[in-house]
Amino acid sequence: MITLGIETSCDETAVAVLKGTRQVLSNVVASSLKEHRKYGGVVPEIASRAHLEALLPVLDKALAKARLKASAVDLIAVTQGPGLMGSLLVGVSAAKALALALDKPLIGVDHVLAHVYAGFLSDPGVRFPCLGLVVSGGHTMLIRMDAASEWRILGRTLDDAAGEAFDKVAKMLDLGYPGGPEIDRLSRGQDPNRFPFTRPFLSKDSLQFSFSGIKTAVYYAVERIRKKRPLNAGLKKQIASGFQEAVCDVLVHKALLAARQERLSRIVVGGGVSANRRLREKLAWATRGTGIRAVLPEGAYCLDNAAMIAGLGAAIHREGKRKGLWCQVDQVPVYANFKLGPGRPGTTATWKKTNR
Ligand code: KG4
Ligand code: ZN
Repeated sequence: MITLGIETSCDETAVAVLKGTRQVLSNVVASSLKEHRKYGGVVPEIASRAHLEALLPVLDKALAKARLKASAVDLIAVTQGPGLMGSLLVGVSAAKALALALDKPLIGVDHVLAHVYAGFLSDPGVRFPCLGLVVSGGHTMLIRMDAASEWRILGRTLDDAAGEAFDKVAKMLDLGYPGGPEIDRLSRGQDPNRFPFTRPFLSKDSLQFSFSGIKTAVYYAVERIRKKRPLNAGLKKQIASGFQEAVCDVLVHKALLAARQERLSRIVVGGGVSANRRLREKLAWATRGTGIRAVLPEGAYCLDNAAMIAGLGAAIHREGKRKGLWCQVDQVPVYANFKLGPGRPGTTATWKKTNR
């Protein structure tokens, strides 16, 4: 079973080819990040245009790398949300066109849930049920996943996403965009206790997150320093390290709390912030000797990619087939925000071309 995955939710145009539900034959990503840098964030219009230009060359490259022709594809999986509407539409339109032209089934995949599935690609031992911790630029969520199409949100951020907080703090420190990797790099070898920011745990058993308070605390710390002296490179490193430590402490604490509450023995972390070195270290330490295993995707699958879309799509397809679900190609609507209600992805959405 060969699945072609397409991802265009933000600034990455990505296509991947997968065999079965885990074996990545090719994973090609083109990013328009450089074009957004001078604006300090992703500009939706620029992103959609870049997807239009990049999608077909990226598709050709992905098929060539997999040494397959388009006719060998059995299933097409595409990100239907959450993301930038204009960008999503480029990917979904291309996927629909391909599905119709090749007469193959199409499945819409949720980007946030796919970030959890990225861990399944790196580690053949990972299975459902698991606790997903998604930490990306747009989302911070704890998700119980019992199957590819059976999941429940346990907690989410009440304000900023973790990656968003990294990016905003980096901006305050004049570190450029995206700021997460730079904060990660600068924090290396620093003492995080020089700037001990308060950890927002909320109530004792809460699985919700809030990062806007730490961000504001960094802002005031920077202001206080700037009133007295310039914010030099050494101080920036210390602030970056203190901020990173606080965010990672909260993420690790709540992930373990959720795993214990739900009696889950696997924590699968996904999203851009899962590349963070300190988060990886802390999770490894915190889970040692607990019987809980932390699974972190390898570099290529931490950031946005289409292999995770193809993987989750293939897994949902397999489960749906067992349940005998059907749906039409034109029933892959795009959505900007994560869906919680009925009609959410992975419950009703499946994917057979209509018999026309
Ligand atoms: O998952 P992703 O590629 O895109 C979204 O779906 O949002 O995540 C991008 C986010 C950005 O906020 C970026 O600053 C953050 O991931 N990020 C990191 C690191 N690498 C990327 N944050 C902390 N440490 C990193 N090493
Ligand atoms: Zn993402």
